[in-house]
Amino acid sequence: MASRSVIVTGAFGTLGRAVVRRLAAAGWRVAAVDVSPLPRGEPLPEEVFPVGGVDLGSLAAAEAGVARVVERFGRLDALVNVAGGFTWQTLADGDVDAWDRMYAVNLRTAVVATKAALPHLLAAGDARVVNVGAGAASAKAAAGMGAYTASKTGVQKLTESLSAELKDRGVNVNAVLPGTIDTPQNRADMPDADTTRWVAPEALADVILFLLSPAARAVTGAAIPVYGRG
Ligand SMILES: NC(=O)c1ccc[n+]([C@@H]2O[C@H](COP(=O)([O-])OP(=O)(O)OC[C@H]3O[C@@H](n4cnc5c(N)ncnc54)[C@H](OP(=O)(O)O)[C@@H]3O)[C@@H](O)[C@H]2O)c1
Repeated sequence: MASRSVIVTGAFGTLGRAVVRRLAAAGWRVAAVDVSPLPRGEPLPEEVFPVGGVDLGSLAAAEAGVARVVERFGRLDALVNVAGGFTWQTLADGDVDAWDRMYAVNLRTAVVATKAALPHLLAAGDARVVNVGAGAASAKAAAGMGAYTASKTGVQKLTESLSAELKDRGVNVNAVLPGTIDTPQNRADMPDADTTRWVAPEALADVILFLLSPAARAVTGAAIPVYGRG
């Protein structure tokens, strides 16, 4: 595994940082891509290549970021699309633009990053894409969850169609569907919740590592619920 390289997007966020650490510890050469210019929180492992300031809304920016990674590592074997966001708002009290923002942050980032990475993934052979959807998009959407779950349903459909498009070309495409992740933001937003029922970022990172591994070579087009005990 030592020579295989991966881009993690949204890599400076809570889940992204856990995924970066897990993959680096497993021997992947990891590029940490994010729109923020600099990593926040605990420093990333020193062998990780930080590629900040990349807005994945822009294909040109994404292609430039991917080019930096390929220049550094010489190849690209996998892409983990973690970049994303959340909003809760009702239609009556919310703003219409929230639907565009959710589309942009959750679906467009994955589409753009994948399109930018694809020539290199195809060149690598036996490549992997893992998208981060949401368990909430698999259930009937609750009040206030329309914009978010619509965008995450899009991530699932991207996963399915891309898997069909690429399965004969050496690229497996799968998604994880997290339940509530144990993040500082969720703890602040839901102070009375039983956090032991949530999924730890490290547990999600383990599932993503599996999907990148040779053991998952026969898995493509899957959407794996990862809910903890939620
Ligand atoms: N937290 C949960 O309970 C939960 C549940 C189900 C699914 N998810 C999904 O899991 C993923 C990670 O969640 P998280 O809680 O770790 O979120 P997070 O901490 O907010 O991390 C997301 C990261 O993506 C970055 N990002 C946003 N827009 C971007 C863009 N245009 N280009 C590049 N990077 C961009 C963010 O940067 P900025 O902060 O600078 O914008 C942030 O660093 C998301 O896709 C989320 O929807 C989360």
